[in-house]
Amino acid sequence: MYHKEKFEKILFKSSLANIMRKAFEAHILVPAFNVAYLPMVKPIVEVLTELRCFGLLEVALPDIEKFGAQSFSAVKQEYGKYENKAYTRLHLDHVPVIDEDGDLVDWNVLIQEALDLGYDSVMIDGSRLGLEENIEVTKKVVKLAHAKNVPVEAELGAVYGHEKGPLPPYEELFRSGKGFTDVEEAKIFVEKTRTDWLSVAIGNVHGAISGAAKDEKKVNARLNIEHLAKIVSVTNVPIVLHGGSGIEKESVLAGIRNGVTKINIGTAIRQAYEKELWKTGRVESAQNAVKEEIRQLIVNYYGIRGSAEILGALLEK
Ligand code: 13P
Repeated sequence: MYHKEKFEKILFKSSLANIMRKAFEAHILVPAFNVAYLPMVKPIVEVLTELRCFGLLEVALPDIEKFGAQSFSAVKQEYGKYENKAYTRLHLDHVPVIDEDGDLVDWNVLIQEALDLGYDSVMIDGSRLGLEENIEVTKKVVKLAHAKNVPVEAELGAVYGHEKGPLPPYEELFRSGKGFTDVEEAKIFVEKTRTDWLSVAIGNVHGAISGAAKDEKKVNARLNIEHLAKIVSVTNVPIVLHGGSGIEKESVLAGIRNGVTKINIGTAIRQAYEKELWKTGRVESAQNAVKEEIRQLIVNYYGIRGSAEILGALLEK
């Protein structure tokens, strides 16, 4: 086994941009877990550390507005109590330019706030804009973030599911490729924006966040791996998969072999937390449920227990 203190030290001092690049080259998944409620921070950090798996904690606007993450600063503060840089970093997820309810968002202020708070990476989501507008907004965020050596994730294509109302029938969506990231546009987008990571739509959908659907089981999504491979061949950047809960295992593993480096997992751990809290009324039990769900994902589903050791060894070279 690679010496524990050694790889921990290497990861500790590596930039997130470098870690993600190595992970992309070696086809190692970096899972990213959404903090929908502040007490979820502790179990996420603890279980990643326990399993020696490098991963991200992330918070998106819906986590704050629709659930209990409170604010970017509250999450940062909570994270500061438990963080372990050898295994975890803090990412700002989904700052949309137009949100799921069709409202314009003051993205500039939010991105700046996260940068000032010291988030390790940020996401701008201009995917509801046309290509040129998305490029323009993303370029501005890249400029702001890179000035602080902070990597940027941007999105192209439509990852459905957060909007109000029912999702279009999934099979139809998958078969038609509706909203899928266009390969030629992806090439232009990455070249022009210099975004570090690209979030794509290749069959993945978000779990619902409003109405009764937010408590229901998510559809079993699949991925179009051929389409993914084409995107990777023209962009050559780490690919991000939103809507990570409930994707068929075969698809997920093939996705990782073909360039998916970061997968966002929200619904699965939020529902585990809420269900246990409703049942027992005890935050500690709910925290344990989050840990159990993540342990199950890391060990049995992704098979990435100990991934920090491999990353540490690769970063040393
Ligand atoms: P799920 O809620 O479907 O896991 O998606 C999470 C996500 O993509 C957050 O950005």
